[in-house]
Amino acid sequence: MTEPARKATAVAPSNIAFIKYWGARDLERALPHNPSISMTLSRCFSRCTVEHRPDGDEHRVLLRSSTGELRPPGAEFTQRVVRHLDRIRKMTDCPGGFHVATENSFPAAAGLASSASGFASLSLAATRALGLELDSRELSSLSRLSGSGSAARSALGGYVEWPAVLDDPECCAVALATAEDWDLRDVIAVVDSGPKKTSSLEGHRRAPTSPHYEKRQEQLPARLQAVREAIAQRDLEALGPVLEDEAIDLHLVAMSSKPAIFYWRPATLEVLWQVRSLRDEGVAAWATMDAGPNVHVICPPEAEEPVARRLGALAGVQSVIRDAVGTGPGVVSEHLF
Ligand code: DP6
Repeated sequence: MTEPARKATAVAPSNIAFIKYWGARDLERALPHNPSISMTLSRCFSRCTVEHRPDGDEHRVLLRSSTGELRPPGAEFTQRVVRHLDRIRKMTDCPGGFHVATENSFPAAAGLASSASGFASLSLAATRALGLELDSRELSSLSRLSGSGSAARSALGGYVEWPAVLDDPECCAVALATAEDWDLRDVIAVVDSGPKKTSSLEGHRRAPTSPHYEKRQEQLPARLQAVREAIAQRDLEALGPVLEDEAIDLHLVAMSSKPAIFYWRPATLEVLWQVRSLRDEGVAAWATMDAGPNVHVICPPEAEEPVARRLGALAGVQSVIRDAVGTGPGVVSEHLF
């Protein structure tokens, strides 16, 4: 073990799920019902600075607000961060408190996986502040324990699978291919940048109440295999239709859960419609969504410009983020405080 660094800053990207985690075997331990596969992003990321204070046991949490200041976030977010810091303190047997500041390069809690990037960056910064060097398996496993399962995937770059192995306490994500292996773009149409009303955590709880939940589970082995093969062969024509089926099924399950969860806004449908039109015109582009109203359009580099132009011109689209597959988290030298 190296000397404790006391203060460390980490950057971790968000990710977009091709095969979704929706429904848990054990929510407390963030063990999913089914494996999921994602693409790690590049421009949508969280940056987190953690300072370890060996002489105190209080944690302090600050989040960059939309107006630019570092402020105490809402009670629910603070509680999740504090619980994770307590967990890290216990697991590493390092007494003391942590001071944390975090910021996102994109709208938080709007289905753009800010908890994935947030908890992966927090886990990396906190362990580095304690002088620990985790490998990607350990970082994935620790990030997962935050309760944000998708954070397990943000611990790695490129194309990532998070398996759902029964009785595997580590349950960490593994790389399927690197970012260099396949340059895919993600054009994100932001139709609502506000926080979502129903958390993914609540969505996982309600998922089994949908009559479509079991049906989706039955289809998953074939879908997972199709996505693994499409990634191995860099075959977007094979990947695209599975992406769209998965996104629609996630929302079908959410909308038919009891009580029902509606993440879509009218502009969500408008974007989906335009993606189909683009395909009819010969542009290779396929849509997917996480638990929110915003639409991710997966496409090759040459389609990025026409997709961004078309979606940016829609009345219901507030902004367009042009993202791409990325290389994963890392430690940086610019601290937030
Ligand atoms: C729809 O429990 O990981 O994005 O912590 O809010 O990111 P957050 O949610 P989490 O569930 C992810 C749900 C999903 C699908 C996915 O990313 O696999």
